[in-house]
Amino acid sequence: MKFIHLTDTHIVAGAGDLYGTNPKTRLQQAVAHICAHHADADALVLTGDLTHLGQEDAYRQVCECLAPLPMPVYPILGNHDCRSVFIAHFKQVPRDGHGFIQYTQDFGDYLAIFLDTNKPGAHWGEFCELRAQWLRAQLAATDRPVLLFMHHPFFPVGIGSMDTIALRDTAPFLSAIAGYQNQIKHIFFGHIHRPIFGSINGMPFSTLRGTNHQVALTLDDDATADIIASHEPPQYAVVLLDEPQIVIHLEDFSDHNLRFALT
Ligand SMILES: [Fe+2]
Repeated sequence: MKFIHLTDTHIVAGAGDLYGTNPKTRLQQAVAHICAHHADADALVLTGDLTHLGQEDAYRQVCECLAPLPMPVYPILGNHDCRSVFIAHFKQVPRDGHGFIQYTQDFGDYLAIFLDTNKPGAHWGEFCELRAQWLRAQLAATDRPVLLFMHHPFFPVGIGSMDTIALRDTAPFLSAIAGYQNQIKHIFFGHIHRPIFGSINGMPFSTLRGTNHQVALTLDDDATADIIASHEPPQYAVVLLDEPQIVIHLEDFSDHNLRFALT
């Protein structure tokens, strides 16, 4: 199985600019690139911050941009999203019994679990007991390898200004996954707008740049620092799933460097 990981598209109402670039144009470029080079992908995952301000028209623009994709799209919420407006535009996306945007999907041999870490009005993430109970029930119901998708990381990545808006009160999440770490084969995040890879308690993770604006690598930030943005190239990831192997390629889709044969 092959899927595309796309994140943090930050579309605004009226298809306007944001931080000097146009998020709608960028998303359209990404979609066109995916259609040209990876139309055979089985799925596309969008790990949150679909919109910048959660406006109705912004979600309408997101749907318009995604329409040319030939594969199913599996979105989750980020801190910049609005759950109620999202639901109005993505009626087909399942919810858990408490209205959170949480659902599962077969991804080849893996079970993909999509989580909702949105807390209305906050940029930091929340994963409450209700959401954690749902997650634990999904983990308890399967013996298949699991992929987790969530917007906010639940641990610091070393950029203080971003770490202060990571998932807070991680206890319910950590309690939900306790005992299942060996079954969780990869965790895919958004939120940081940078390519970062590693592992946490033996669970591999990855995140990547957004499609509009990025976060600079400022490892000397503290929690009170401004988030320093940048215009490093946008990207998406191509994920090759072939149990027991997961391979993640990053594609800087706006890069037009010359390609040539190494002879
Ligand atoms: Fe974002």
